[in-house]
Formats: sequence, structure tokens, C-alpha cells
Amino acid sequence: MTEIKIITSLHKSTKRNYLERMINEKVKCMKVAKKYGADYWDGDRKFGYGGYKYIPGRWTMVAKKIIKKYKLTNTSKILDVGCGKAFLLYEIKKILPNIKIVGIDISKHALKNAPDEIKPYLFKHDINKGLSFKKNSFNLVISLACLHNLKINKLIPTIKRIQTLSKNKYLMVESYRNEKELFNLQCWALTCESFFSKDEWKWIFKMTGYNGDFELIYFE
Ligand SMILES: C[S@@+](CC[C@H](N)C(=O)[O-])C[C@H]1O[C@@H](n2cnc3c(N)ncnc32)[C@H](O)[C@@H]1O
Repeated sequence: MTEIKIITSLHKSTKRNYLERMINEKVKCMKVAKKYGADYWDGDRKFGYGGYKYIPGRWTMVAKKIIKKYKLTNTSKILDVGCGKAFLLYEIKKILPNIKIVGIDISKHALKNAPDEIKPYLFKHDINKGLSFKKNSFNLVISLACLHNLKINKLIPTIKRIQTLSKNKYLMVESYRNEKELFNLQCWALTCESFFSKDEWKWIFKMTGYNGDFELIYFE
């Protein structure tokens, strides 16, 4: 497995007020956020994204980097686990119009608000119930900012399963390297169930036999 950095600069470009979130009815907000409904995506910032709109160009660099790194072409097939509104899949398909894409997510609201052009390739599914795709049925499996939302007993089998679906894999999850980043993550996170340090994530990936790429994002 290899650590890579594709999303980090995009992640760092967002300003976050950690303490404000902590004192803003956080427990109630966590319960609302974990429903992944309209409040989480497009409601007040205290519930999640605070309005997650498609911004032309925002995901273009990430799409280009992924296409280049994994040598994707118009005949490739990719899966996005926890695709949300699937802006990244949309961007990839704009560059490679014939690529086959599949996105799965638990959020009805996110899928309903994904770009119309790619809606036929998006499916509502709770990863906790397993991933029933055939072995090696994709050229690339990605999962961005999703898997830390699973509890450890579901996280481990999910990573093991993802490992079987494709030769190429890229998983991005939230993490921390020191007390400050742990504190910031604990303040900020509304939906996270798996709070692991860099070393712990590396241990989990190794222990599950995962041999793909991973990226850890931090709250500095
Ligand atoms: C932080 S968002 C990231 C969305 C998207 N990958 C992106 O980068 O824009 C986390 C996503 O994980 C999804 N998710 C959380 N738990 C899930 C589950 N058990 N099954 C499927 N999707 C889940 C949420 O609905 C949400 O879309």
C-alpha cells in the first residue's frame, strides 16, 4: 500500500471554525448529520456541508490526477464507494465520456442532487450491508471521506471487500498526527465513527491485506 496526496490541497483550502462547531448543539447536530439528509448537505453549516453545490472546475484537477495516475481510459470501469453528489465521477466522465462509472451512497438526498447526466449510474446502498460486486470487476475503486464513517466492525470487512474488487484502489479517510489534530478532528467531525491516527490507519490497511493507495487528511 502507498500513501498518496491528491485531495489534501483541496481539503486545506476550506476554512473551519473548530470551537464554534463544538459549542453549537453538537450532539443534536451529529444525530441530524448521520441521517445524511437535506440538512447535512444543504442545510446550516452546523449540520454538515452548509450547502454543497457543483462548482465548475473545483474537482477538475482531482479528476485529471486520478485519470493520469490510474491510466484510466474510455474503456475503464470505476466504482466510487460513498460517492455523495458524485461531482468527482461527473468530472471524470466529462473528460472520458465513455468510461463506465458506478457510484453508491446511503444518501437519497445526495443522489437526487447529483448531476442529471450521471444519475443512471448511481445507486442507493448502505455499505454496512456489504458490497456485492464481482471480484476484479473494476479498473479502479475509490472512496473519498466515507470509510471513517463506518464503525470498526464494518470498516474492516469493507476494506477487505474493496481489496478484491480491483487491482487499483484509492481510499481517502480522516486522521490525525498529534493531539492538536485529534482535538480539531473531534471538534469538527459530525459523522465520524473511526477516529484513528496515521499509524493506526496504516496498521488497519496492512492487517486487512489492503494493497492499494490511501490518503489521510488532517485538521491542522
Ligand atoms: C464526507 S461525504 C463524502 C462524499 C463524496 N465522496 C465526496 O467526496 O464529495 C461522506 C459520504 O459517505 C456516505 N456514507 C456514509 N455512510 C455510508 C454508508 N454506510 N453507506 C454508503 N454511504 C455512506 C455519505 O452519505 C456521504 O455521501
